[in-house]
Amino acid sequence: MSAVIVVGTQWGDEGKGKVIDFLAQQADMVVRHQGGNNAGHTVVANGNEFKLHLIPSGVLYPDTECIIANGVVIDPDVLLKEIEYLRARGVSTSQLRISSQAHVIMPYHIRLDALSEDRLGSQKLGTTRRGIGPAYMDKAARVGIRIGDLLDRERFKERLVRVLDEKNRMLARAYDTDGFEFDAVYGQYLAYGELIAPYVANTSVLINRAIDGAKKVLFEGAQGTMLDIDHGTYPFVTSSHPVAGGACIGAGVGPTKITQVYGVVKAYTSRVGDGPFPTERADAVGDRIREQGHEYGTTTGRPRRVGWLDTMVLRHAARVNGLTGLAVTRLDVLDTLSEIQIARAYRYRGQEIRELPDSLEHLDEVEPVYETLPGWQTPIGQCRRLEDLPAPTRRYLDRVSELTQVPLTLVSVGRERTNTISWSPLF
Ligand code: IMP
Repeated sequence: MSAVIVVGTQWGDEGKGKVIDFLAQQADMVVRHQGGNNAGHTVVANGNEFKLHLIPSGVLYPDTECIIANGVVIDPDVLLKEIEYLRARGVSTSQLRISSQAHVIMPYHIRLDALSEDRLGSQKLGTTRRGIGPAYMDKAARVGIRIGDLLDRERFKERLVRVLDEKNRMLARAYDTDGFEFDAVYGQYLAYGELIAPYVANTSVLINRAIDGAKKVLFEGAQGTMLDIDHGTYPFVTSSHPVAGGACIGAGVGPTKITQVYGVVKAYTSRVGDGPFPTERADAVGDRIREQGHEYGTTTGRPRRVGWLDTMVLRHAARVNGLTGLAVTRLDVLDTLSEIQIARAYRYRGQEIRELPDSLEHLDEVEPVYETLPGWQTPIGQCRRLEDLPAPTRRYLDRVSELTQVPLTLVSVGRERTNTISWSPLF
């Protein structure tokens, strides 16, 4: 039995795509279980760059089964375009399966996401405006449309009539804007349903069968722990559960089946969207890291906020995810720096604390306590073994592992699959 969950330990964009792609080489099945096309993974394979938002990165391996499980919210237009994008580049999607229970992002979700953000003005959450939050709201309110509904004309009609009426009233009364025509939405989403139908399956059965059959199953987390709706910096979070427990719910797998939980740690921190970020460097150092790391959103193109590594965030992630290993990424982005800082504690109301404060208001008040480590000032992209890394690089990695009390499992030193150091079996 081998079921590995990969989660982001920070605010997303930790380089999970690269780690997942590397692990996917060994996996028989790759599963996405939460989020939607708010995520964006860039995978570089054989010199070709692939940008994926919904389809698991495992799709690039012809023999790997790929699952979009029940916990994902799916924009059918985006899904079908992604399938086409892959086909046009010679990548088959025949091994893709989609849960009939996954919720559909409808056009009113996208519209409401944008309207709500605009109305919030300076208080906005900085969402990706892809309709993610409103789709999960409808799921919780039990008025969502699921992929299976698109395949049943009568059931879909019945559900859509009810929900569209309510959404149109809301658009008119709360936002003074036009609603959606029933016939247009119904016709378009039925057509999407026909195109998606060949992929639809009971994915919980497929995933459990694979695990029980001694296959290697990889759960591909999207976003990061600090964006989790319960364990993140609420309300500046996404509406799903990027933490490890979310994989069990979002895929229909029991926690006793999970064998490893790897946390992806970017060697520095970044964040898109608004909300607190204690180690942010909005200065020349930050600009340098942003440029070296090309820190611009895959999904939105927005420049990301960047700063030093924060081990309060990492310890929090280690605890709420039950991490069994760390995968440190983008270490090469720090190659040119003469000094590197790590926040090892916060100063908060005259005291040093090593945990995240319980409430977001207090996170605004903390001041990071840094320790400074020497930089290595040499390119490390060609290193293939831990022993090849310069001594200051190894010291930095050891310190991250010491401060988080989680062993190192993998190190990424560049964008290509080959720029990866790993020394033990990962499954
Ligand atoms: P939403 O997921 O579009 O509702 O956005 C909520 C928050 O999560 C915003 O701060 C987004 O910038 C952030 N977010 C959502 N998806 C990602 C991601 O894949 N990487 C980084 N941030 C994300």
